[in-house]
Amino acid sequence: MSRILHRSLHADPPLAVRGSGMYLFDETGRAVIDGSGGASVACLGHGNARVNEAIAAQLADVAYVHTALFSNRAAEQLADTLLDGEPGGLSHAFFCSSGSEAMEAALKLARQYFQEIGQTRRQHVIARRQSYHGTTLGALAAGGNAMRRAPYLPMLAGPYSHVAPCFPYRFQDSGESDDEYVDRLAEELEAEFQRVGPDTVMAFCAEPVVGATTGCVAALPGYFGRVREICDRHGALLILDEVMCGMGRTGTLHAWEQEGVSPDIQMVAKGLGGGYQPIGGILIGRRVVDGLRAGSGGFMHGQTYQAHPVACAAALAVQKVIAEDGLLANVRAMGEALSNGLTQRLGNHRHVGDIRGRGLFWAIELVADRGSKAVFDPGLKLRERVAQAAYERGLAIYPMGGTIDGVRGNHVIISPPYIATAGDIGAIVDRLGDAVDAVCLGVGFGSA
Ligand SMILES: Cc1ncc(COP(=O)(O)O)c(C=O)c1O
Repeated sequence: MSRILHRSLHADPPLAVRGSGMYLFDETGRAVIDGSGGASVACLGHGNARVNEAIAAQLADVAYVHTALFSNRAAEQLADTLLDGEPGGLSHAFFCSSGSEAMEAALKLARQYFQEIGQTRRQHVIARRQSYHGTTLGALAAGGNAMRRAPYLPMLAGPYSHVAPCFPYRFQDSGESDDEYVDRLAEELEAEFQRVGPDTVMAFCAEPVVGATTGCVAALPGYFGRVREICDRHGALLILDEVMCGMGRTGTLHAWEQEGVSPDIQMVAKGLGGGYQPIGGILIGRRVVDGLRAGSGGFMHGQTYQAHPVACAAALAVQKVIAEDGLLANVRAMGEALSNGLTQRLGNHRHVGDIRGRGLFWAIELVADRGSKAVFDPGLKLRERVAQAAYERGLAIYPMGGTIDGVRGNHVIISPPYIATAGDIGAIVDRLGDAVDAVCLGVGFGSA
């Protein structure tokens, strides 16, 4: 057995030895379509020559400098590229090495901002149930995924509370219109502000399209407009977590572009560097930066590897490829093909309750019974069986359980690289459909 503390200590995962374009190859020589870019990370697929060259060039120039002494060209150019024209009022960036670190930075920046503008009572964060904002203790405390939080609850006490997500398939009442559902959620958020004291709330935090925990759930039209209005009325910041759904994944560079709102602080990570280097970051609104500038004059948060030259060079190259190759248009076109393909192949499947997503960010929710939406017994770990069956058919997808409440429900995510062709999408749909048939039609109908 491996000496690595793998996700399971009972079985070692296959060893990946090579990647090329849409494909990964394991040590047995099996070729697998990377149908989810890992965890929605590999947005350019594997082995992109332009990105590899940019990394090599940066290594030849300088691999590392410490930000207390130096800036570096790659980080400066990456920030200039991302913030050109100040999209949504975002004017500055802070780069770190992961989504979790981005969340920690966002939380600390929000707190420091309010301290410096003299609103020192603001420390409370309202987030949503079934959200995921990262694995470090601050990010886990802010997140709302009951299963991931459970073992660490004694360490997660703090100024965090959670309201309902906008998750129509599971939580919109029958007979309730979209507008009525959005009204109900806005009223709940307003009530939570009132419960904790509006002048104590520092931020509301949400994923524009919820990723791993519920499976590609976009909010209903108007929801984020209401959220923005409530935050503004009470003077709280809006933090949007685009670690998974951002940087083009949903067909626009930022997922918030499709919601008609922009955040005060935005987290980015996976699609920023496409997996070529570990990198995350926050994009920050000018008013927050101005608050710090007029106060202490700096962000009191630092990490050894922040703005890492090689990571920034990789991310800059990834973003250039996305722009130069017009990949956002491909995400939209192939997203439509994926949506149509999934609907045709699985839309009437008795064990597929919902097919949802945006761009190249899709999930299918697996159910024991389509009519009643009853879930499979969680002990069956249906999603893992489907992922295994897909792997055996040459397709990698991203399985997750606890779709509804952290325990009940199964879904798998399909989020292929932005370079996918119509042929790739067809193969993904065929292999996924076969895997779902093989597993779901074979397990009987145990529901819970
Ligand atoms: C929405 C969201 N936020 C934060 C994170 C944490 O990112 P990382 O795993 O890079 O720390 C993730 C990771 O899956 C995520 O999906």
